Amino acid sequence: MSVVVTWLGHNCWTIRSGEHLLLIDPFLNDSPTAPLKAKDIAPNFILVSHGHGDHVGDTVEIAKRTGAKVISNYEICTWLAAQGVEHTVGGNLGGWSRHAFGDVQSTPAFHSSQLPDGSYGGNPGGFLFSIAGKMLYFACDTALFSDMQLIGARQLDLAVVPIGDLFTMGPDDALQAVKWLAPKQVLPAHYGTWPPIAQNPEQWAARVRAETSSVPTVLRPGESITV
Ligand code: NI
Ligand code: MN
Repeated sequence: MSVVVTWLGHNCWTIRSGEHLLLIDPFLNDSPTAPLKAKDIAPNFILVSHGHGDHVGDTVEIAKRTGAKVISNYEICTWLAAQGVEHTVGGNLGGWSRHAFGDVQSTPAFHSSQLPDGSYGGNPGGFLFSIAGKMLYFACDTALFSDMQLIGARQLDLAVVPIGDLFTMGPDDALQAVKWLAPKQVLPAHYGTWPPIAQNPEQWAARVRAETSSVPTVLRPGESITV
């Protein structure tokens, strides 16, 4: 069965697999590049990588309206529950959780995680999904780290890596990440949202094509690929 991955700008993504719609880091209403608003989407799962406002985004609004189950770390789930989010699964780094759509592991990310109101947001993370026989890795906000080689050893069908620089790794380190992750397909994220993280994704994709055997695709917000 195929899995459809759609970019909604910044680090906001959907994964469609059969009847399941997963929404990652739902930064929509305040995003300058999102092609839709929080009211326009009805996921049954929401995944939040860390506490920053450009990732927690519209989680509370969407979860309350749809009853979606939110998967994040323990601290963020506790914070969401205090705001009336009913269904949460709070784990921590290294842990897998099993769901109707498949399985997901919380992977390390070198970043920070303060929540919008200043609350402690636990450790930031990425996501490794096993869905419909495919392995999909979303690095989310992180620096380059050499244990990406261990994640790459899982035989990734898709990797999503930040290239924006300043808040996360930039194009050079993201190229090294692709070498270590060795995914079949790779997508850049977390760039172009605001001037400080402007990048040339086509130039980066050309380097990926020249120096790795991974296939890069530069999506525009709203566009999808099939894995
Ligand atoms: Ni962040
Ligand atoms: Mn961010």
